Amino acid sequence: MQSVIPVNLPQHAYNVTIAPGSLDQLGTWMQGTIEHPLKLGSRVLVVSNPVVFEHYGKRTIASLEQAGFTVAMCLLPDGEPYKTLETLTKIYDAALANRLERSSTFVALGGGIIGDMTGFAAATWLRGVNVVQVPTSLLAMVDAAIGGKTGVNHPNGKNLIGAFHQPRLVLIDPQVLQTLPVREFRAAIAEVIKYGVIWDANLFAQLEAAPHLDQLSNLSAELLQAMLTHSCQAKAHVVSKDEKEAGLRAILNYGHTIGHAVESLTGYQVVNHGEAVAIGMVAAAEIAVALQLWRETDAQRQLTLLEKAQLPTRLPVNIDLDAILSSLQSDKKVEAGQVRFVLPTQIGAAIVTDQVPTAVIRQVLQQMRTI
Ligand code: GLY
Repeated sequence: MQSVIPVNLPQHAYNVTIAPGSLDQLGTWMQGTIEHPLKLGSRVLVVSNPVVFEHYGKRTIASLEQAGFTVAMCLLPDGEPYKTLETLTKIYDAALANRLERSSTFVALGGGIIGDMTGFAAATWLRGVNVVQVPTSLLAMVDAAIGGKTGVNHPNGKNLIGAFHQPRLVLIDPQVLQTLPVREFRAAIAEVIKYGVIWDANLFAQLEAAPHLDQLSNLSAELLQAMLTHSCQAKAHVVSKDEKEAGLRAILNYGHTIGHAVESLTGYQVVNHGEAVAIGMVAAAEIAVALQLWRETDAQRQLTLLEKAQLPTRLPVNIDLDAILSSLQSDKKVEAGQVRFVLPTQIGAAIVTDQVPTAVIRQVLQQMRTI
C-alpha cells in the first residue's frame, strides 16, 4: 500500500509519499532514484521535539545513517508558546555547530509546529537549504507539511513571520499515528472532512460510508490510506495551481474565518485548532444555506460527519457574539475591511466571498450558541 502524489510546481516540484512503515526507509527515500536523484547533500540536521523524538528519533537516525548521511540532531521544546524567533535560534546554532552547508538538508520530524519552524529555518539558513518534511501528526500530514508555508509566531499574532519554502520531499508513515493522542486525531479529521466539502466529493462519500471516524483504532488501514491520499491530493492540487495564495489557495481556509475567532477568543485553551475549524465549518455551512448558495441537506450531511468524528459543532459556552464579530475584522483574511468567507456551493466545491452581510453572520452565530 503506497501512494506517491506529485506537487507540480514548476520551479520546485516534489512528491508526497504515503507508505506504512516508510520511516525506516527515510534515508533511501531521501536518496531518490537513479533516474531522479534528490541530491540532498551528505549532512542532515534532524529537528524534532523530545516527545516525538522519544518515539521515532532512533529509527529516523538509523535509517539516515544506513543510507550514508551524516546526521546531527536539534530538539526544540514542545508546544505553541515556543514557536518563536528565539527558539529558532537553536536550529541555527545546531546548523552552525554541525557545519550544515548550502547543499545540506534539514529534516522536520514532528507535527505542524516543528514543520513550520524547521521549514522557516531552512528558508533562511545560508539563504535557503533543503528541507524534508516527515510529519508525525495527522494534521501536519494532511495540511502543514505540504505547500511550503513556514514560519513562527509574533507575540501579537500567529504565523506573522514566515516564508514560502517548499520541501524537497514529504514522507508520511501512517503507522506513526498510533502514538497520536485521540483528541489531536479527531481535530485533524475536521480538516479531512474540509477537503471532502471543498474539493473532493469522492472523499466525502468515503467518510460517510465509514462506520467510525472518532479514533484511529476504529479505522481500517485501507480507509486511513485513502483518507490521507485524497486529502494530500486535494492540498497538492490546490497548492500547485496557486502556490502563494493569490486566489484558489484561499479555499483551504474553509471553516477558518469563524474558527480563528473562536480559537483566539478562548485563548487557544478551550478548543484546539481542528475543533475550532469544525465549529467554523458549521457556521460557514449555515451562512451558505442562508445565502441560498448551498442545500440545507448537504449542510446536514456535513454536520453528521463532524458529529461522527465527535467534533464540537456549537459555540463554546459564554462566548460573546459581538467579540466574535469584531475579532473577524482583525483577522489576516480581511481585505479592504471586508471579511472573507469560504462557502460551499455543493459537496466538493466552494467559493471565496466577501459579500456576507453582518446580520447573516450574527443570526447564524446566535443559532449556534450552546444552550
Ligand atoms: N493551511 C492552509 C494553506 O496551506 O494554505
